[in-house]
Amino acid sequence: KEDENNQILQKNLLMVSELPSEKGWLSENIHLYQGFWYSTGVLNGLLILQQCFQAQPSDILLATYPKSGTTWLKALLFILTNRTCIDNSEKNPLMTTSPHELVSMLESYAAKNPMNPRPSNSLMHTHIPYTSLPESTKSSGCRIIYVYRDPKDVLVSCWHFVNKLKPNEIPQISLVEAFERFSRGVSPYGPYWDHVLGYWKASVEFPERVLLLRYEDMKRDPCFHIKRLAEFLGHPFTTEEEAGEGLVSKLVDFCSFEKLSNLEVNKKGSHSGFGFPVIENKIFFRQGQVGDSKNHLAREMIDHLDQITEEKFKEFHLIN
Ligand code: A3P
Repeated sequence: KEDENNQILQKNLLMVSELPSEKGWLSENIHLYQGFWYSTGVLNGLLILQQCFQAQPSDILLATYPKSGTTWLKALLFILTNRTCIDNSEKNPLMTTSPHELVSMLESYAAKNPMNPRPSNSLMHTHIPYTSLPESTKSSGCRIIYVYRDPKDVLVSCWHFVNKLKPNEIPQISLVEAFERFSRGVSPYGPYWDHVLGYWKASVEFPERVLLLRYEDMKRDPCFHIKRLAEFLGHPFTTEEEAGEGLVSKLVDFCSFEKLSNLEVNKKGSHSGFGFPVIENKIFFRQGQVGDSKNHLAREMIDHLDQITEEKFKEFHLIN
């Protein structure tokens, strides 16, 4: 089995070596494939998925640009789709396991299991842009939920995250450098703007299949958007579940930043993830606020990013 895995890897690496590349934020190189930038490991996973991933109509795929609210949505969707109990007992898997372990990231899973790149759970996650998703995720009719967030907050969140994730021997990336690369689109799974637009267009064309949610809207009125989510998944809440202290508000409270980030498992636990044997669960929780980027970015940086966003998004009414 190891031989076969190696053969697949070698074939993919050969293909990757011919692509345009630049210095990565964390990895040595990132490569431009189908208009987006990936580290070598991620791209290997993506190529495997494109070659043989089979989606099922009942699958639910959470898609995000990194640092846009993946952890939050993984927790919400896990509870929604499993109708798991949301108490503080060990019967609730989120009490003992990181949302990242409960909901697998497809490209990471595929790189580890190239012969069988389908996780056992039908709720899955990916950062892959819409154009590069495996064909079966589109033809099977499976549901896709895409969450996006203000790019300034995404950049700042990503910069903090990468510097926490990086091994000690790799030098820190400065915020100025991260900003410069992010603005040019040279960021993990970037360009950010094309990533959002790909899913936005799909949600307009196939509203029954692709739902777009915005992090800032969810923070403002989580109950409303969670009800939308449940309806989209074909499991609307009952009137009782929606009322007062019913399931919806319990769900919102349990998955809030304050609650999740204070669980023992997310404060002290760890899991293995993309190429890293140990990722501390706590690095997925920082502030969970809207607009923290203004505390980090200079005025000109803010203006520059806003200008790109305005230009790229204006005809699509994606910004208020
Ligand atoms: P900040 O760095 O701005 O605090 P992802 O989960 O896609 O990696 O994104 C991480 C971002 O989401 C971080 O943003 C993190 O703090 C925030 N986050 C994590 N859990 C959250 C939750 N339950 N509710 C809201 N935001 C959350």
